[in-house]
Amino acid sequence: MQTQLTLQLGLLLIGLVTGQTCPEIPDTGVTIGDPVPIKPENIPKGCSDYEILVARGTSEPDYVAGGGKFGIIVGDPVVSNVTAKLPGARGYPVQYPASSAVITGTRQGSQDVVNRLKAQAAACPSQTFALVGYSQGAGVMHAAADEIPKALYPRIKSLVMFGDGYKRLGSTLSRFPSGLNEKARQVCATGDPVCNTSGECTYYHLTYIRPEYIDPAVDFIVNAFKN
Ligand SMILES: *[C@@H]1O[C@H](CO)[C@@H](O)[C@H](O)[C@H]1NC(C)=O
Ligand SMILES: *[C@@H]1O[C@H](CO)[C@@H](O)[C@H](O)[C@H]1NC(C)=O
Repeated sequence: MQTQLTLQLGLLLIGLVTGQTCPEIPDTGVTIGDPVPIKPENIPKGCSDYEILVARGTSEPDYVAGGGKFGIIVGDPVVSNVTAKLPGARGYPVQYPASSAVITGTRQGSQDVVNRLKAQAAACPSQTFALVGYSQGAGVMHAAADEIPKALYPRIKSLVMFGDGYKRLGSTLSRFPSGLNEKARQVCATGDPVCNTSGECTYYHLTYIRPEYIDPAVDFIVNAFKN
């Protein structure tokens, strides 16, 4: 069931048809479905006060010109804005390919999230975490949440999902386990069909970089870390 759901969501993310009235998606040279290089050199070392684990969207490249490591649409603006407000914060790029191989990628990404949380929580007793997932990365965080030991829940201060395919399926399936769900926020862009059955244009799935979506999420993460 979980596997089938993951596959359906994966196909949804990749296969949506753009209608005639939709804004055209600019040609960025990115082929949706291609893997993104996994970069262990971008894993931050040692401890920090706050760490934001980011699972990127399918084939989402980094904002290389800006030194981005977490994905140009969601992870890079979220991490840079949170860090600007909260200097003890940093990002962790979930080590997964974010390709069209959604089932294996989700497994790889979710295990990476759980392993990272366990290792950092043990090594850094006062570090706290935020979980951010975009598109396929939201699926990674849902899968990870099912495996995160309950003892670590107090260390996770917020979860923010952007363009979450589970949200399209309704409030029951998009829920996180009790104890985490209370700290979760969904960001679904107007018109995004991935997270809303009324959405019509894939274009809007790519609009999360807009301040109207990034800024409230940043405030939510910062406030949760401070509390
Ligand atoms: C889905 O989109 C419609 C139209 O924009 C909006 O009215 C509705 O509130 C959205 N539903 C959810 C669950 O976000
Ligand atoms: C915050 O995010 C926006 C995108 O919404 C980006 O343009 C801006 O550079 C970011 N600001 C900082 C301080 O990182």
